[in-house]
Amino acid sequence: MPGFASCLPGSGMKALLARRIDRKLQKAQSIADLRQLAYARLPRAVFDFIDGGAASERTLRENASAFDDWLLMPRVAVDVSDRSTQTLLLGKQMRFPFLFSPTGLSGIFWPNGEVAAARAAERAGVPYCLSTNSVASLEDVARAVPDGDRWFQLYFLRDRGWMNTLLDRAARADYRVLCLTVDLPLTGRRERDARNAFTIPLRPRLATLANMASRPGWLVGALKSQPRFGNFESNGKSGFTSVAQHVATMMDPSANWDDIACVREQWRGPMMLKGLLHPEDAEKAVALGIEAVMVSNHGGRQLDQSPAAVTALPAIVAAIGGQAEVFIDGGISRGTDILKALALGARGVGLGRSMLWGLSAAGERGVDRALEILEQELDSSMALLGTPSTSDISRACVISRFVSS
Ligand SMILES: Cc1cc2nc3c(=O)[nH]c(=O)nc-3n(C[C@H](O)[C@H](O)[C@H](O)COP(=O)(O)O)c2cc1C
Repeated sequence: MPGFASCLPGSGMKALLARRIDRKLQKAQSIADLRQLAYARLPRAVFDFIDGGAASERTLRENASAFDDWLLMPRVAVDVSDRSTQTLLLGKQMRFPFLFSPTGLSGIFWPNGEVAAARAAERAGVPYCLSTNSVASLEDVARAVPDGDRWFQLYFLRDRGWMNTLLDRAARADYRVLCLTVDLPLTGRRERDARNAFTIPLRPRLATLANMASRPGWLVGALKSQPRFGNFESNGKSGFTSVAQHVATMMDPSANWDDIACVREQWRGPMMLKGLLHPEDAEKAVALGIEAVMVSNHGGRQLDQSPAAVTALPAIVAAIGGQAEVFIDGGISRGTDILKALALGARGVGLGRSMLWGLSAAGERGVDRALEILEQELDSSMALLGTPSTSDISRACVISRFVSS
């Protein structure tokens, strides 16, 4: 029985809007389609903050295009009637070989965006990694998804007292894995953000007002929520700032391997080092007893002209495979990208923008749709490749397009 509220024009309008969004989501057949929906809903500055990379964005483009350097080599007449995408990620069985990579400020893409994404991750049976720079605090997310596999991403902060407080809070809130990101001593030169004068909260300027007003779906949510750096609030460090300023004030560019070793000692659970591209750095991580590395260039947002994550992956797997779990993120927008990463030795992959396009398009339902698309692509590609389970995926499944037979 529909309640009285549903007779009100407001709720009728809401239901109508929800049906419209659902229709659009069902029409979306790829992550690229979801990106288009996000483009239509977000103001330019917010879209660019997600979409953009550093400097000439060469590394950003490479992340995606380097997957084309590898081709999948199918085997036929394999019984693929019974398939499983299950994978063990740092000791826990997951439904899929992927996790949500940490993405700061998700709460400005959709109201309460971190909670929406974490709920979708929980439903899908994959880990959600919360950023230090989230809008929702780590306690808010823990309360919202008590049974989800929660990972917490930490940056080195100048204020070590505050950094230790964050570590304690993450442990108390039962985050299972600590992901320490080490590729952000300062912010890469993100020219789109500088041009758009992107700040938190968004500072309305004459030049951008019309654009914001043309995105009422986003604007109404943004006016109701209060975008801020949720994990810094009680430290008195929240405020009106650009991302580059926030990072310059808060993050510690002097952090070195001794500091990484200190964090390793402090954190009792499994730990991942995120943002490595060099095999010797991966070896150093293993020597410190770190259980996992994320091969990553921060989605092309830090050092431009650094290699694509998938290009750096094979050397890191050769250096430390078997001693630590190797993950990769950057440019993953297809089920076949996930397959290629696994074939090259990754245990799992991280989703950054692919998940954010779903979130920005339609909140929790949009993330569900992004995951559904990737699940279907992964499942059908596994069948066509002749690998019914993730454990069947091996180096023999890919060939380099540059090697002639
Ligand atoms: C909007 C946005 C915010 C991000 N914030 C963080 C962050 O707070 N911490 C972090 O370690 N990485 C952050 N990243 C990098 C992602 O964790 C991940 O490495 C990257 O998005 C992977 O590339 P992809 O977007 O092509 O999948 C961010 C990326 C984006 C797009």
